[in-house]
Amino acid sequence: MPIYHKLGKIPPKRHTIFEKPGGGLYYEQLFGTVGFDGMSSLLYQIHRPTMIRAIGEAIDVSPVIAVAKNIHPRKLLGFEVPAKADYLESRTPLLVNSDIHIGLAAPQSSLRNYFYKNADADELLFIHRGTGTLRTLLGNIPFEYGDYLLIPRGMIYQIDFDTADNRLLYAESFHPIYTPKRYRNWFGQLLEHSPFCERDYKLPQDLETHDEKGEFLLKVKKQGILHQLVYNTHPFDVVGWDGYNFPYGFSIHNFEPITGRVHQPPPVHQTFETKAFVVCSFCPRMYDYHPRAIPAPYNHSNIDSDEVLYYVDGDFMSRNNIAAGHISLHPGGIPHGPHPGAYERSIGKTSTEELAVMIDTFKPLMVTEAALKIDDGVYYQSWLEG
Ligand SMILES: [Fe+2]
Repeated sequence: MPIYHKLGKIPPKRHTIFEKPGGGLYYEQLFGTVGFDGMSSLLYQIHRPTMIRAIGEAIDVSPVIAVAKNIHPRKLLGFEVPAKADYLESRTPLLVNSDIHIGLAAPQSSLRNYFYKNADADELLFIHRGTGTLRTLLGNIPFEYGDYLLIPRGMIYQIDFDTADNRLLYAESFHPIYTPKRYRNWFGQLLEHSPFCERDYKLPQDLETHDEKGEFLLKVKKQGILHQLVYNTHPFDVVGWDGYNFPYGFSIHNFEPITGRVHQPPPVHQTFETKAFVVCSFCPRMYDYHPRAIPAPYNHSNIDSDEVLYYVDGDFMSRNNIAAGHISLHPGGIPHGPHPGAYERSIGKTSTEELAVMIDTFKPLMVTEAALKIDDGVYYQSWLEG
């Protein structure tokens, strides 16, 4: 996050004496990424963050692959992913490679009885249904329908849901997730042609500081294993922090679409970037306004990337038989395009209400057993005519 932010109390100079009111020193922790080159924050904690009391069972949570080398265009019926009480158990990986795991979750309960950390991956959650609060050791972020929540790797968090009816799309990224570089100047400030600006970010607020001793279970995801560490003190014991490495939210409804006289290519919808994939937001917008424009996209060969579209709301202009919660997978190597009738149907339309999240990966995606269970099995033939 290329914004400086701070919460709570911090000493005037880093790496200097910072005394507790009752005596003793606060413990400083540098929380950084990409060695010492990436974004980092400096945290001040009541207790040592290193006090492991016990290490429990290690559980293998690696995705089970059904199709390692896929060329089938597929449609997954996302709302058929079963709801489960536990947040982590409800997360169902569907399309994965060595850079990213994409999945859906329908958690019914808040995560309160343990803490969670993904040691390997930045997590991007997209809230399709539900409201609540992401609670982290660096502060809390209330969320609602349409919010992206970006949780940098290593961030300890819990999550509160207001009701049992929740639907999330998530991506675990083994590369840091940033906003597109081309929208930022050399100081990191978002430029005037960016489809969003700093005011749109939801920064962490309401730093919770718990001075508690006991047994605190932290589930750490690392190398496909869920490790269970019991710590001696409450993980949320930060009295203050500052820096650039922290979780934040961004509402898809605040993405300002870039439109043109003729069809604009997918990069105008780009919201996040990594070395290995991009995330785009397709939002309600005015259609192309050349008098002879065809607003639906042309057929295209994304030869060297797999395209995943998650349909959120509205009538998706280029697709037939697509509903909210569906995922389409258009694999690299073969062309895809609008469904029969969609090209013609789009002519003369002035606007669209479609809302969708697209993830384009540069390496092919593998299909999990869980994905096959919700695969409609016939999508690859959906362009046939006559
Ligand atoms: Fe496409």
